[in-house]
Amino acid sequence: MSGFIVRSIDPDEREECLALWCTAFPHTSRAYFERYFYGDTEYDPHYTRVGVLEGRLVSCVQIVRRVVTVGEARLTAACIANVSTLPQFTGRGYNRACLESALNVISKDTFDFSILGTGIPNYYAKFGWAQVGLPVISGQLRDVAMPPDTKLRQARFSDVEQMMAAYTLTYQRVPLSVVRSRSYWRGWLEFSEGANPDMWYVAETPAGEFLGYVRAEKDDESSKSSLDIYEAASLRPFDANLVSRLFRAAAEYTGCDDGVTCNIHVPPTSAVAHAAATLLLGLKGSHGGGMMFRIVNNDNLLMALLPEINDRWVEAGRPSVDLAIENPDGPPLSLTTDDHGLRLQLVSQPQNMVIPQASAFQLLFGLEEPSAVQLPTGTEAARALLSARCRGTYLTADDF
Ligand SMILES: CC(C)(COP(=O)(O)OP(=O)(O)OC[C@H]1O[C@@H](n2cnc3c(N)ncnc32)[C@H](O)[C@@H]1OP(=O)(O)O)[C@@H](O)C(=O)NCCC(=O)NCCS
Repeated sequence: MSGFIVRSIDPDEREECLALWCTAFPHTSRAYFERYFYGDTEYDPHYTRVGVLEGRLVSCVQIVRRVVTVGEARLTAACIANVSTLPQFTGRGYNRACLESALNVISKDTFDFSILGTGIPNYYAKFGWAQVGLPVISGQLRDVAMPPDTKLRQARFSDVEQMMAAYTLTYQRVPLSVVRSRSYWRGWLEFSEGANPDMWYVAETPAGEFLGYVRAEKDDESSKSSLDIYEAASLRPFDANLVSRLFRAAAEYTGCDDGVTCNIHVPPTSAVAHAAATLLLGLKGSHGGGMMFRIVNNDNLLMALLPEINDRWVEAGRPSVDLAIENPDGPPLSLTTDDHGLRLQLVSQPQNMVIPQASAFQLLFGLEEPSAVQLPTGTEAARALLSARCRGTYLTADDF
């Protein structure tokens, strides 16, 4: 690869980089990509790894830094985005070099794990990412009508303070939800003065009191319409009644009729599952989203979650534990007990079967019903120890 190097982007190369992204992803708007440089407070030039051939940007990998919640813990995610090579330069190993450079940057920073969304999972599997589906509840809408005492309207900039408060209250302990600052709402989610944020709706009482918000989209492009509900939150207790009221209002407001397929991407807590059962016929759960997860920096992830895991271990009566979890960068991570309590270490020869990364992530972030997570024989103890306290997901508004 003579004449080719990978390095951080220079600030004056941002235009060239935007052009590269727009060429590699011709169906995505330039405004979408501009957010990475100009709408993300976490941005650092170090996070844009560019492959340069004789002075020209030909390949790129972007790292997006996001802090997510898991119960009481906060984890830092390295989100991989804008993986691209100019079409005339593909197949020469340029993107592999950028991805390896990104992993190197991640390993020197304070990241706990990495995530990405893709339609080409085989590409990333080579580099250690594992596929993990996000939970979806689907069914056919029934009895669509605006709930009594409820009004829905498009959200506007002036709603942002209440929406932020509702989001924080509803998602503060939900696994994998992004910690959203005020500038994140304005920059990344595009709640800026004069903007009419697409897909976001505010529910109010007839007196104009804020009930909550829903992020939803009706898709009329295919021959059969469908409704996707991506997010909902409230300042009131987020129980099945309220959830069902918000979802039903979204279905009516977006013009859905009975029988339209509805996909709910909100974390499937018991309130959401209950509400779905009243709103939908032919209910079924599935997994989608094309997400992949990867452990980075060896034991950072489990180290950050150790207080949570320790609480569960104490609740379970301090059973003896000997678990090993797959680590793409080296020896498996082992979680064992001795006289001093729980111990986390890297072991070259684990005594037990190794739990695949995908199963560990499903449990840690509540992405699957714990009883449905596949575990190798002899690692059953992981279910009680690693399972999040409630179901989680990565909300699509936070896509990168
Ligand atoms: C995907 C893309 C980034 C690959 O870039 P590239 O510079 O050609 O990649 P490389 O030459 O470094 O290939 C690295 C490895 O991935 C493999 N690979 C390349 N494209 C692949 C694909 N679409 N699916 C699976 N594997 C792929 C290569 O065979 C190579 O394997 P090897 O190292 O084991 O020989 C490039 O084709 C592109 O920009 N595509 C359009 C945008 C896109 O879809 N990006 C991914 C979004 S998730």
